[in-house]
Amino acid sequence: MNVAFARRPAVLTVEADDAFVTLDGVTKVFGNGKRSTTALENVSLELNQGEFVCILGASGCGKSTLLSLIAGLDKVTSGTIHIADGRPAVMFQEPALLPWLTVRRNVELPMRIHGTDTDARNQRVNHLLSMVGLIDFADHRPHQLSGGMRQRCALARALAQESELLLMDEPFAALDALTRDQLHDDLNRIWQETGKTIIFVTHNVREAVRLGDRVVLMTPRPGRVAQMWDVEITRPRELDSFEVSGLAHEITMRLRAGAVSNGAE
Ligand SMILES: Nc1ncnc2c1ncn2[C@@H]1O[C@H](COP(=O)(O)OP(=O)(O)O)[C@@H](O)[C@H]1O
Ligand SMILES: [Mg+2]
Repeated sequence: MNVAFARRPAVLTVEADDAFVTLDGVTKVFGNGKRSTTALENVSLELNQGEFVCILGASGCGKSTLLSLIAGLDKVTSGTIHIADGRPAVMFQEPALLPWLTVRRNVELPMRIHGTDTDARNQRVNHLLSMVGLIDFADHRPHQLSGGMRQRCALARALAQESELLLMDEPFAALDALTRDQLHDDLNRIWQETGKTIIFVTHNVREAVRLGDRVVLMTPRPGRVAQMWDVEITRPRELDSFEVSGLAHEITMRLRAGAVSNGAE
């Protein structure tokens, strides 16, 4: 059986030269004094280019904060974040599409902002819409789409930014199970086709195991890295497969044991 669940130490030892994204001792405190909240504490993490890393943790453990810091939307309190290649593209739970623009126009927006010429833009948008399965809906407006289709559109728009790093914050959490399952398959394929580096945040253990090369489990607030797993299950993976269920069970047990609240091992 082609399955291996390898444990990693909480802090990786990849050579700094090889890392695509490096977080070193990242701490984030909101507010000051008695009313302050430490959302993240001493988070260190390294990602290689092309890696698909899932950040897993309970609600409120600092996952969105972590993504905002990596995206450059907020500043660390202490520690450093280094990204080898420019500014990442971000995708959230809410697709945040512009309702008055068609699917095509929404997707091409980053390219218009970038000043890409019309021919190149049309070619690229057609390619992206085909990739996410929306080419037949190019002239629809967001309100004419299902929730899953809106997220496909948001994914195409994120890919249109030509960023090598894609940050995804619980992008499928509001979708029904069947739609989510299809999007998992498609995201897996798109990741393999494009070679992007993906950081995918979720509170869903199986989703993390289904998608990630690596699962990083966070402690409850303040968020710290509790444990990491390399997921070497053959792709494409199925949510209900023996292998995915097995590792998801192991991670869930780790979560339940409460050991994650003690931080790094
Ligand atoms: N802008 C903010 N100001 C104050 N507290 C915040 C802010 N953003 C997040 N927090 C707090 O930081 C903690 C982590 O939040 P968040 O990153 O949204 O968690 P998650 O995405 O894992 O659910 C929570 O306690 C939250 O209330
Ligand atoms: Mg969040």
